[in-house]
Amino acid sequence: MARRKFVCGNWKMFKTASEADQLVRDLRSRLSSGQVQVAVAPPFTALAAARAALTGSPIQLFAQNCHWEKQGAFTGEISAPMLKELGCDGVILGHSERRQLFFETDEMVGRKVRAALEAGLHPIVCCGETLQEREGNKTWEVVSRQLRGALDASTAQQVTIAYEPVWAIGTGKVATTAQAQEVHAQIRGLLRELGGAAAADSVRVQYGGSVKPDNAAELLAQPDIDGALVGGASLKADDFARIIAGAR
Ligand code: 13P
Repeated sequence: MARRKFVCGNWKMFKTASEADQLVRDLRSRLSSGQVQVAVAPPFTALAAARAALTGSPIQLFAQNCHWEKQGAFTGEISAPMLKELGCDGVILGHSERRQLFFETDEMVGRKVRAALEAGLHPIVCCGETLQEREGNKTWEVVSRQLRGALDASTAQQVTIAYEPVWAIGTGKVATTAQAQEVHAQIRGLLRELGGAAAADSVRVQYGGSVKPDNAAELLAQPDIDGALVGGASLKADDFARIIAGAR
C-alpha cells in the first residue's frame, strides 16, 4: 500500500510570532499543493500567528509538546485541548531533546499520546538511540523499548513515528540510507506486532536527523521511509521547500 509522504518542520525554540508569520508566508509562496503532506511545528507562542498565516493552506500546524492532563495545577504546561482549540492538527511527542533535557520517560510519552488522540490531535511519536547506544549494538533494544512504552494496540494505528538517531540531530551526520532503512523496517515489524496489518500498512515512519535538500530524496526513496522530521533546514523556506520537492 502506498503511504502518502509526510514532511514536518520542527522549528524547536526558534522564531518569534512575527518571524513565524514571515516564514509561513515565504513557505506558502514556494509550495505548490502536491502529493506530500506538509506540516510546520512552531513554538507555542508562535502557533496563533502561524495558524493565521496558514489560512486556506493545506499545510498543517503541529505543536512540539503537550501535557497529558486536560487542565490542572501544572505551572508552565500546555494541554492537548488547548492546542486543539488554537487550531493545531497534531503534536510532536517524545522528542529526544524532551527526553534528554526534560527527563521525559516512555511512560510519560505514552500518556501524552493518549491525551493527544483524545483531543483530536495527530501525534508524531519520536524515538532514537544515542551514539553510545548504537556503538553498543543497542539500537533496536532502545527504539523498541521506547515504542512499546508509548504505544498500545489501539494507539499504534493512529500515530506517525519519527525515527531520529540522536547522534544525527543537529550534527550534520546523517544516517546512511541503509542504517535508516534497517531501523524503519524493524519499526514496521513492531507496528505489525502491536497494531496488526492495518498499523503496519498505514502508519508513516519519518526519518529525522540532519535532513537537508541534498540528502532528502535518497532517504525518502527507501521503501520504509515515509517522510521526514526536519529541524534546522525547516527554518529556511527555500531549503524546506527543496526537501519537500525531494519527497515527491
Ligand atoms: P536537525 O534536522 O536540525 O538535525 O534536527 C532534527 C530534529 O531533531 C527534528 O525533530
